[in-house]
Amino acid sequence: MLARTHCGDFRVHHIGQTVRLNGWAQTNRDHGGVVFIDVRDRSGLVQIVVHPDDPAVHQLAHSLRQQDVIEVVGEVIARSDETVNAKLPTGAIEVKASTITVLNRSETPPFMIDDTCDTGEQHRLEYRYLDLRRPKMQGFMALRHRVTHAARNYLDSQSFLEIETPILNKSTPEGARDYLVPSRVYPGSFFALPQSPQIFKQLLMVAGMDRYYQIARCFRDEDLRADRQPEFTQVDIELSFVSQDEVMAVAEGLLRSMFDAGVGIHLPETFPRITYADAMDRYGLDRPDVRFGLEHVNITEMMKRVEFKVFREPADNGGLVKIMRVPGGSALSRKQIDDYTKFVSIYGAKGLAWIKVNDVTDLPGGLQSPIVKFLPEDVLADMLQACGAENGDLLFFGAGDEKVVNDALGNLRVKVGHDMGLVAAGDHRFVWVVDFPMFAWNADEKRPEALHHPFTAPYAEDLDKLESDPLNMRSQAYDLVWNGTEIGGGSIRIHNPEVQARVFKTLGISDEEADSKFGFLVNALKYGAPPHGGLAFGLDRVLSLMAGVDSIRDVIAFPKTQKAADPMSNAPSEVSDAQWKELGLRKRRTIQES
Ligand code: AMO
Ligand code: AMP
Repeated sequence: MLARTHCGDFRVHHIGQTVRLNGWAQTNRDHGGVVFIDVRDRSGLVQIVVHPDDPAVHQLAHSLRQQDVIEVVGEVIARSDETVNAKLPTGAIEVKASTITVLNRSETPPFMIDDTCDTGEQHRLEYRYLDLRRPKMQGFMALRHRVTHAARNYLDSQSFLEIETPILNKSTPEGARDYLVPSRVYPGSFFALPQSPQIFKQLLMVAGMDRYYQIARCFRDEDLRADRQPEFTQVDIELSFVSQDEVMAVAEGLLRSMFDAGVGIHLPETFPRITYADAMDRYGLDRPDVRFGLEHVNITEMMKRVEFKVFREPADNGGLVKIMRVPGGSALSRKQIDDYTKFVSIYGAKGLAWIKVNDVTDLPGGLQSPIVKFLPEDVLADMLQACGAENGDLLFFGAGDEKVVNDALGNLRVKVGHDMGLVAAGDHRFVWVVDFPMFAWNADEKRPEALHHPFTAPYAEDLDKLESDPLNMRSQAYDLVWNGTEIGGGSIRIHNPEVQARVFKTLGISDEEADSKFGFLVNALKYGAPPHGGLAFGLDRVLSLMAGVDSIRDVIAFPKTQKAADPMSNAPSEVSDAQWKELGLRKRRTIQES
């Protein structure tokens, strides 16, 4: 029997060869008795031609329907000049079929299996196996394969060991809700699915594995967005005896090899760095999109000189007042400004003061704004100077609580940047955000919480603030941000058990709780834990940016919907009463029943 060849591989140098190919019938056209069938497999598409001179083959060709699975044996022949299809890699040839065998029939598919298909995502996910048959989706899966393969190769070349860590776990604190799995053997007890392999990879360092990696599945029960799935994959690494710089250098090499293999893009040797404090100051977000300007300018101090309550109160009370200068923004309409005001209210901003700069040399007459009348001329002049205002600009102001102002103006910056077309297509900017604070204040629970995770090491010189001034401690944590999306993050870890215990205390975790939740880690730190650190890339996010798609669902073979469900299998689903019983669980009575 002839060996199988692949549809997309045929070129003119195959002309004259007899070949066997397998695939799915795409189209079936009859041109004056000559039947043309497009057959596709993963490698691509080739045209089959059937002449009426062989009635049996001809009749069968006629009967083929979209997505029937066939085998074709035939001769590769040249297409006539006028029928050459330059858009198709196989467009210079066709295969003249001598036999066609139907291996399996297909029902009419619920949507077109090609890249013009624009059916809704719910429908695509319901029939994901057909959606994945489309060339675009097959391309994404191949991309995923190339990238994970390159990651493995690179890490292997850097002496990393690939080690699998358990899925049935105790909870790992990455800040999301756990997915729980009830234990049958221990009724009333639960495993947690890993939010990341964090604790295990640290234990592997204690175990002397030196350099670990894993393409690791992580589970987080959190509110979903386009760049978040309940189940996602990390390229997870951990190294012993390393500095932050060394981890970042390995991460850069890793990402570079992934981009090379994935999309043939050569990333720079190193990426620029910005401190968390600078990022917040200039961009209002800890994942700055540095493709465009619209940087923020802090005018809090200056606002101590004004009466205008909206600006003065935050200036006097530890709040924040910022300007975001929009070059050319004075052309915005009232309606557009009102829409932006509504937009910032999502982030809790109570308003969005603005000034249109018509003539910088004429104060206050050259300024158009509802707030100019509340501001003395010298302050106006200082404000304009501080932000470098020019004629035609629009200045937006955020005033109030630091977090609200940063959130509001930070997100506004991204929105305005896109709305004003400041984001050049194909521009990719990577930036490391470093020196994160160790803790953030959790206002609801009135205690500090870990900004990264509780195993992150503070800078040694900040250690003495752990009890006295924890909110002003910086940690050795770093995130990698691409065009405003966090694609990876990590830190140097605490390897000293006493420091770890002190951090738990600062986080308000009692000794008993620390012992019951993380006792095994703290214990391990007592047995010669090496200094260590690492990082994890969100593989799905990296792939979605390479593929240029908005949602990470497109680069995951079988993703969940935004509602954390699978419309194909209908998971999650109910289980039998027997299973409830076996697991020692009882259904809560509904309100109607009780
Ligand atoms: P972190 O929680 O920052 O760190 O996660 C690392 C990266 O994983 C990606 N990511 C997600 N991707 C898709 N869906 C999600 N729900 C989701 N959540 C996170 C992001 C993020 O940058 N153990 C640490 C890493 C370390 O310290 O080494 C951790 O998990 O791209
Ligand atoms: P008000 O005095 O509340 O009418 O506000 C006067 C101007 O200040 C309006 O343009 C408001 O949109 C704006 N404003 C009110 N609160 C804030 C705030 N917290 N930050 C920025 N601008 C605000």
